[in-house]
Amino acid sequence: MSAAHTQRAAIPGRDETGTKTMAKVGLIYFSGYGHTAKQAEAVRAGAASVDGAEVSVFEISKDGDLADGAWEQLAGLDAIIYGSPTYMGGPAWQFKKFADASSKPWFTQAWKDKIAAGFTNSASVNGDKFNTVLYFFTLSQQHGQIWIGTGLLPSNTKAHGPNDVNWTAGSAGALAISPSDASPEEAPRAGDLETARLLGARVAAYAVKTRG
Ligand SMILES: Cc1cc2nc3c(=O)[nH]c(=O)nc-3n(C[C@H](O)[C@H](O)[C@H](O)COP(=O)(O)O)c2cc1C
Repeated sequence: MSAAHTQRAAIPGRDETGTKTMAKVGLIYFSGYGHTAKQAEAVRAGAASVDGAEVSVFEISKDGDLADGAWEQLAGLDAIIYGSPTYMGGPAWQFKKFADASSKPWFTQAWKDKIAAGFTNSASVNGDKFNTVLYFFTLSQQHGQIWIGTGLLPSNTKAHGPNDVNWTAGSAGALAISPSDASPEEAPRAGDLETARLLGARVAAYAVKTRG
């Protein structure tokens, strides 16, 4: 390889020929019954809608494990978006198993300066969802990541309802309500899915921008 190529390879966001490379956004989530999976799909679609971004999805299994090769793929991402239902006022244990296992990249601060964001879904209107987002935030800060919130105003007038963007009103992360008797086909509802989509798009747009 020539000296010129060696120099070009050092430019962030460019390959060895100087061509812009795609920003890599990853979504890592758990879903016990499919509701948070639906929210995750909206986040994915939002991120994938951004020019210059490619998205990979990592679903945590019922045993709290990742597919083979996932840790290596996570290391190559520019942004990691965390998602879990809120169970008993925090993330599901399967997500926590993943978080504890991420102590391995933590040792070398391998995820430092990667962008981070989070989303959660639960049955109650409040349901202590913020605690789950706060957990994602704390995890991201242990890893030295850069947190991105929704950047959305709440839809909080009398006229607003579940079909409006950010009716569940998260600013630190995307929140969703799936009423306890609703199937994943019924919930999260349109406003929460659009909120999730917008968070995905915001993270991806920022990843593309900061990639240079
Ligand atoms: C073990 C367990 C604990 C739960 N704890 C809460 C809670 O703290 N707050 C809440 O609003 N809903 C709670 N729920 C309801 C779930 O958050 C809700 O059913 C959610 O849609 C499940 O998402 P999933 O289908 O992706 O698993 C709990 C459900 C389970 C099974």
